[in-house]
Parts: sequence; structure tokens; C-alpha cells
Amino acid sequence: MNKLITLDEFILQRQKDFPFATGELSGLLRDIGLASKIISREVNKAGLVNIIGQAGTENASGESVQKLDVMADQLLISCLQNSGECCGIASEENDTYVPIKNSSNAKYVVMFDPLDGSSNIDVNVSIGTIFAIYRRISDDGDCQLNDFLQDGVEQVAAGYVVYGSSTMLVYTTGKGVNGFTLDSSIGEFCLSHANMKVPQNGNIYSINQGHYNKFSPEIQQFVDECMDKQLGFRYVGSMVADVHRTLIKGGVFMYPATKSSPDGKLRLLYECNPLAFIMEQAGGKASNGSHRILEIDATRLHQRTPIFMGSPNLVNRVEELLQKEPSNADANNVSAMA
Ligand code: AHG
Ligand code: MN
Ligand code: MN
Repeated sequence: MNKLITLDEFILQRQKDFPFATGELSGLLRDIGLASKIISREVNKAGLVNIIGQAGTENASGESVQKLDVMADQLLISCLQNSGECCGIASEENDTYVPIKNSSNAKYVVMFDPLDGSSNIDVNVSIGTIFAIYRRISDDGDCQLNDFLQDGVEQVAAGYVVYGSSTMLVYTTGKGVNGFTLDSSIGEFCLSHANMKVPQNGNIYSINQGHYNKFSPEIQQFVDECMDKQLGFRYVGSMVADVHRTLIKGGVFMYPATKSSPDGKLRLLYECNPLAFIMEQAGGKASNGSHRILEIDATRLHQRTPIFMGSPNLVNRVEELLQKEPSNADANNVSAMA
């Protein structure tokens, strides 16, 4: 039987990859792992206690907040407060960043989507948590907004947890991607997917096809090509679940701009950047249609971006279509869409 390697053991083993790390980054990852175990427990009994349904409030993106969103957000904040390694957090559920008082001199800031795929909570479909860790750039004392408005290439670590048929935590510190499955009988995340690599080509496309009529002609052409080639179609509606499947099976996950959402729907800082870091580290690609997601200028905490990510061959085709000079026909199409 292969030796069981827990997340804590793995993090400590890999700590030597970071000569400058004094265990603080390891501590942060462990704290996020702890919060994820508790969220997993709550998610798995959500139907039994009065924790599903709407909290009756809206978040910064104007979306109705689910009770589980709030619980997950507060859990992550309290675990990160206890660690002493994090001087501030920013999350989907908070309009602005939140300085962590008892560790204002800590080196790291953390951004997260505490519960991704909220619309799926009440129907028992996979949901997730997404996190990104940056080194602060402000001097000591309370963290500042610019600590959070860093480009994705500055991430020191990123990952996600998917609460599905099993609970998995997948993360990278820039030295490859590793996946851990929660063994709830011992309460430990155990290494189950070492050195994850995305297939270079793929035969699954993932997009909310219901928005087809709102896509640009180029995206409509790509979707038509996928159907002509009889690619499989999968769309869960939780980004973490769709990206996790893409990471393992290959394919392309897309949330493009539409007429009504010219910047798409997904948020750069706590959805797209961390998942793009993971995808690139696994040999995949993540683009807004013309540029690397990780090089997009971060200017607002809740800014959105179109995203195309997964097997490089498929992402390259999307970019090719989006960057080709519009033919007269296309130009006419675009003006017709306006
Ligand atoms: P969140 O629940 O954190 O707001 O994220 C939901 C996002 C993402 O998980 C998913 O890919 C997307 O919303 C689905 O949007 P549509 O329902 O418009 O397809
Ligand atoms: Mn989300
Ligand atoms: Mn969310």
C-alpha cells in the first residue's frame, strides 16, 4: 500500500522549495485546509440544518448571497485570523478588503471566493472554494488596497477545493499542481493526484450554451466547430467543478463576454487568476481571448474578465478566431449584433 501523505506532511516536505519561506506560507495553506474541512462538513449536511437558501442580502457584484456563502466567508476569515500569517483578506462577499488586526505585520494577503457555484447549493450539485495568496507590497502596518490589486503573475500560491462526490483540495506554489482527497474518517487531506497535468488536446467544451445568441460571431463559430467535431458538452455551472473536470480530462472552459456582460461574469482576482495559475502550472492555458489572464492589470477588487482556459490546442483556436481580422461578413454580423 502506498505511503499515505497528508497535506500537512506534503506542505512541510515542499517547504524546502522556498528557501526564503519561514513556514508562514505553509501555515497559511494549512489554515485554508482546515477551513475547507469545516466547510465540507457544513456543505455535506446543508440540507439537514437551516443553512441552505438565501441570506436575504446581495454581495458587491449585486448577486443574492446564500447562507452558505456567508458561513464559508466567515469561516475562512476566522481561520486566517488565527494563523497570524495573513495581514488582510479580500473576498467576493466583502465590498472592500478586510485588514486582519492581530497580524498587521504579517507578510501575506489572501483573496478568495468562499463558495463558488452558489446557485447549485440547494440542488446538491458540486460547489467549491477558490483562493489566491500574494506577498504584501505595502510596508508594515495595516494592509493597503494595492496589496490586493496585484497581477496574477505575482501569486505565491493558489488553489481550490471542490465539494463533490469527494472533497478535494488542489493547489500550486508555482512548482506544479497537486491534488488531495479528504479522508473524513481521519480528517486529513491525503495526496491522491500528484503532479497533475492537463491533456494538451481535449474533446469536451464547457460554456453556458443558453447564452449562444448573446455571444460574438467568433464565439458562436467556435461553438459551432465544437458541435461539428462532435466534442462532448459539459457545463456544471460551478466554475470550480467545470475547471476541475477540464484539468483532469482536458477540454476548454469558457465564460465569454456577451452583449449584456461585456466583461463576462467571472471575477479576475478570486476566480480567474487562481484557477489560471493552476491551469498554467498543469501545462494548460488561460486567456481572456487575447492575453494571458495572469497578466491582466488588476484595477478593482471585483473586476470581471472573459475567460477561456484548458487544453492549449482549444484555447489557441478560440484566440485565433477572436484575433482574426473581421471579414466583411463578420463586420456586418457585429454591427447587426450591436
Ligand atoms: P459564485 O457562486 O461564486 O457567484 O460563482 C458562480 C459563477 C461560476 O461558479 C460559474 O461558472 C458561473 O457563475 C455560472 O454562471 P451562469 O449561471 O451565468 O452560467
Ligand atoms: Mn464564484
Ligand atoms: Mn462565490
